[in-house]
Amino acid sequence: MRLNHIIESQQFTLPTLVELFELTDRMEHTHARGGTQDYHNKIMASLFYEHSTRTRFSFESAMYRLGGNVLSTERANTFSSVAAGETLEDTIRVVGNYADVIVLRHNEVGGAQRAAAVSTIPVINAGDGKGGQHPTQALLDLYTIYKGVKTIEGVKVALVGNLTDGRTVRSLAYLLGKFDRVKLFFVAPSSFQIKQDILDYLTKHNVWFSLESDLKKVLPEVDVVYSTRIEPELLTQKGERLETISKYFIDDNILKLMPRSALLMHPLPRLHEISPSVDSDPRAAYFRQTRNGVLIRMALLVSVLG
Ligand code: CP
Repeated sequence: MRLNHIIESQQFTLPTLVELFELTDRMEHTHARGGTQDYHNKIMASLFYEHSTRTRFSFESAMYRLGGNVLSTERANTFSSVAAGETLEDTIRVVGNYADVIVLRHNEVGGAQRAAAVSTIPVINAGDGKGGQHPTQALLDLYTIYKGVKTIEGVKVALVGNLTDGRTVRSLAYLLGKFDRVKLFFVAPSSFQIKQDILDYLTKHNVWFSLESDLKKVLPEVDVVYSTRIEPELLTQKGERLETISKYFIDDNILKLMPRSALLMHPLPRLHEISPSVDSDPRAAYFRQTRNGVLIRMALLVSVLG
């Protein structure tokens, strides 16, 4: 499998996803051996215009496990020539002379697309703006679901939190919408509901979905709960009561409403969504997600580096 730019979830076909997950399974064996030196002559540049722990470190870890090398800037707005006013396009043209692949987190929706338009080397979108996309997170989320429930067809998923701005949820909804008989429950206060562009896509592809605000009502019905942040400061900005956040908080009592075989997922970081007291429950899958992130990103790097 050969991929070029990785910009949005819609670009992945079902056969590509199957091939990617087979490659990810193989990467698990490579990782278990401590890695490979196969990519010792390759360089990955990670350009992060926004903060990150998981995405940047897991991409860098993945590249090192493949034997490759890493050039990295966090807070590119401060620590690169972006601070002197250099455009994204010029930065990408320059870094293309130093590396074989660019992993880009940008603060504007469409940043990765703009970068890809001028880049001579593959660009991987590591998250672009509020309400943009985060396709590699969605791929690791989908892989975690696949490993947890075995078959994605017919899976029932509750997507919970700030669905308006959450790029992980948006990218995951696009991916899940590719599978037959999937049911998606979008669970959020009304001013944080999923945007119309996703609903239009799901309608066009005959995907069942439901807009909900009551988490407790949905929990017994689903195979996967995908919780995301609701930022307290946004609640008040949007005229919601601050107490609303507690309706989406998952603790031991709320967990009892979920089926025994269900998965509780979160892209992390978590703040007010999941109690640490549920971390040891077998349904808590969020730290498995972070491990799968390295494996998926190894597979993606192999796919773009050839
Ligand atoms: N899930 C995620 O994107 O985490 P980071 O912001 O830490 O990369």
